[in-house]
Amino acid sequence: MKKSHLLLALAGAIAFPVCAQGTVSAQQIEVMDKLLAVYVAAAKIEVKDEKGRGNVSDKPFTVEEGRRFYLVRRTWQSGDYTCSGCHTEDPKKEGKHIKTKLPLKPLAPSANPERFINANKVEANFTAHCMDLHERDCTAFEKGNLITYLKSVK
Ligand code: HEC
Repeated sequence: MKKSHLLLALAGAIAFPVCAQGTVSAQQIEVMDKLLAVYVAAAKIEVKDEKGRGNVSDKPFTVEEGRRFYLVRRTWQSGDYTCSGCHTEDPKKEGKHIKTKLPLKPLAPSANPERFINANKVEANFTAHCMDLHERDCTAFEKGNLITYLKSVK
């Protein structure tokens, strides 16, 4: 391991005592915090769309807003869609893909060490699933809230 990586890992372990419980790894925290920093910056310059989404620069990301976004239902083409439709209402649980019926490993980082270890994969999934559900990518504000919520799930 490179010295700088070791330092980052150590800094993560010190800054986030949750690591001591062995549930969320320093790597997961590092990836989530990196994404959050990107979303904070992006949310500041996000332009309000026609439905008033975005441009919420001064609002901090919250667990409540992230949870609301995760559970919100959207009816589209006679289907009822939500993130929790596949990922389940409790992101610590195994989910099931609504179309393929295939089992899905938990989304919460505390319940699945393979989640949030690759920022590009997170972004790609965000974009794909937001397109599926909302026919647009999610705003930085929505993504920031969702990660804040998932980080809080113990
Ligand atoms: C139709 C089913 C389905 C819905 C609805 C869905 N997802 Fe997913 N999601 C998946 C599958 C399948 C994976 C796993 C891909 C993998 O692990 O390779 C996944 C993985 C992810 C990941 C990747 C995390 C990681 O690091 O592995 C994120 C982030 C994510 N989903 C966010 C969302 C959000 C936000 C919503 C709601 C806007 C949503 N998903 C709705 C099926 C779904």
